[in-house]
Amino acid sequence: MNKAKRAAIIAGNWKMNKTPKEATELITAMKPLVKDADCKVVLCVPFVDIDAALKASEGSNIEIGAENCHFETSGAFTGEISPVMLKEMGVKYVIIGHSERRQYFAETDVTVNKRLTAALKEGLKVILCVGELLEQREQGITEELVRMQTKIALGGVSKEDAKNVIIAYEPVWAIGTGKTATSDQAQEVCKIIRNCVAEIYDNDVAEGMTIQYGGSMNAKNADELLSKVDVDGGLIGGASLKAEDFSIIVKAASK
Ligand code: PGA
Repeated sequence: MNKAKRAAIIAGNWKMNKTPKEATELITAMKPLVKDADCKVVLCVPFVDIDAALKASEGSNIEIGAENCHFETSGAFTGEISPVMLKEMGVKYVIIGHSERRQYFAETDVTVNKRLTAALKEGLKVILCVGELLEQREQGITEELVRMQTKIALGGVSKEDAKNVIIAYEPVWAIGTGKTATSDQAQEVCKIIRNCVAEIYDNDVAEGMTIQYGGSMNAKNADELLSKVDVDGGLIGGASLKAEDFSIIVKAASK
């Protein structure tokens, strides 16, 4: 596999943090720190921050994403946001299937597939999250689980559309816990995912797909994680809320 064939992407996932005013301040602070990045820089922000984030990032190399979207275009789905709405605003990326959505908001592999398909149809790039719980790792079913999540999520997605999918391997036990997967664990599962993508499509799609690691990636451990051949970037939660820390991770991915 050839790392040079794919784009390194460092994406922030702000989760339910930052008001629009705070979003403007944070992006204003980040812009000069990441301007020389040799990787893609994406910030996925709460829906209400999107407008402010787009304005604050204008003319810079920071692209804006959302943290979820619904699978219908419009209709009686109180509280939901459709991919058409995101697209019209100028959003480029959307996270789908984050473990917090699966854990707290009853997302299933099937709804993840529906949301992913709907987002791709609107031309959004999808950051699809997969990853095992601690019990599942201890039971030795990480590989089966991650392969199943990947296959169901990509069900019915054409080879052409798969080029707009980024996969983030996020072991649930490492998210927000300060407990990072070792770089070998991250590499092992990112490689399993890449092989799975090759089985679904072909080697070209697999080699071209950006596969990120996420879960307590920070300014200190990013270098080591990103040095692995199948780890093409990161999905960053906590550390994306601090301009300096986030920029250090972006620099690590730019080497
Ligand atoms: P974390 O979150 O970096 O705070 O562990 C990562 C994520 O949930 O995407």
